[in-house]
Amino acid sequence: EKGGWPSFMDKEIHEDPQAVAETLMGRFDLQGHITLDELHVSVEELKSVDKIIVVACGTASYAGLVAKYAIEHWVRIPVEVELAHEFRYRDPILTPRTLVIAISQSGETMDTLMAIRHAREQGSKVLALCNTQGSSIPRESDAVLYTHAGPEVAVASTKAFVAQITAAYLVGLYLAQVKNVMFADEIQEVLRSLRQMPQKIQWVLDNDVDVVKKTAHKLVDSKAFLFLGRHVGYPVALEGALKLKEIAYTFTEGFAAGELKHGPIALVDEGTPVVVIVPSARNRNVLHSKVISNIEEVKARGAYTITVAEEGDPDAEKYADTVFYRPACPTLMSPLVDVVPLQLFSMYMAEAKGNDVDKPRNLAKSVTVE
Ligand code: BG6
Repeated sequence: EKGGWPSFMDKEIHEDPQAVAETLMGRFDLQGHITLDELHVSVEELKSVDKIIVVACGTASYAGLVAKYAIEHWVRIPVEVELAHEFRYRDPILTPRTLVIAISQSGETMDTLMAIRHAREQGSKVLALCNTQGSSIPRESDAVLYTHAGPEVAVASTKAFVAQITAAYLVGLYLAQVKNVMFADEIQEVLRSLRQMPQKIQWVLDNDVDVVKKTAHKLVDSKAFLFLGRHVGYPVALEGALKLKEIAYTFTEGFAAGELKHGPIALVDEGTPVVVIVPSARNRNVLHSKVISNIEEVKARGAYTITVAEEGDPDAEKYADTVFYRPACPTLMSPLVDVVPLQLFSMYMAEAKGNDVDKPRNLAKSVTVE
């Protein structure tokens, strides 16, 4: 079933491009008009939505955090992202105009299921983004949009993550369309960028494998890692850190890069590996220059720096010991490519340590208890 790959995880990372392509397929036309008929929520209901709360656990919650940046930008309504188990046991503000989006690969995560039951009891509508047909979460939701990543076997989620971001983006653009808050040609432009992403992910898979593998082998004895990012690079840093904890069993923390000086920089010592997600170098905007100074800061304190950066970005090379390159793409699209070398990195690290890549210790693919 692994089709010649050494592990399911390796196979599934190489299916990232397809997961995005299949999730997009058939959901909009060339004029940029999105049709999500399968949603089964009326346009009237969607028009009235004034707040979104994403509930999820683990990797799915980081896909939700990426989507927050995009949906707030496009639709101009507040999007909160909350771990399902935290959401459930406080007293969240839910109204009939709140749309709760539950993201789950398996559709069986009990924490997420309990959260959506609670949301529906309070009168909110629940939309599930799910990879498993007929599973509990979509069955108990008002609406579902399936991610088409195909079955994911490895415990650490990879291709489901890129598919979740893709599906959440489609929902955001659809809301912008029904609420009439974006011009049709703006939506079309975003969809055009999205359609190019499978090819760009493929570029990463074709170009980065060797350097990622070499870097993983070099750092195999490192005791702890830091991952930093800003804006959409922040959830990518969190996801990269989670992957390394899950399968390489390495103490790793993901931080918002701006938070560095408020604490985490105290952890940086001679040789501490720091992975930094560098935003698009186009226009050399504020976001980019802030991240570059963060790299400088950790480098000055002896860090071993790995940057995930755009091809040909001279600033990202300057203070980097290693660069994992990605092709240029709009900022909001970059998580779909930036996570790929990090998925590979954790896999090679786990392999180098002799761990079972597909079945990490103490973890289950879907956690069906609270
Ligand atoms: C965890 C899995 O327990 O559940 C993670 O080990 C996953 O990989 C998380 O991200 C959420 O799972 P699901 O199926 O709800 O997306």
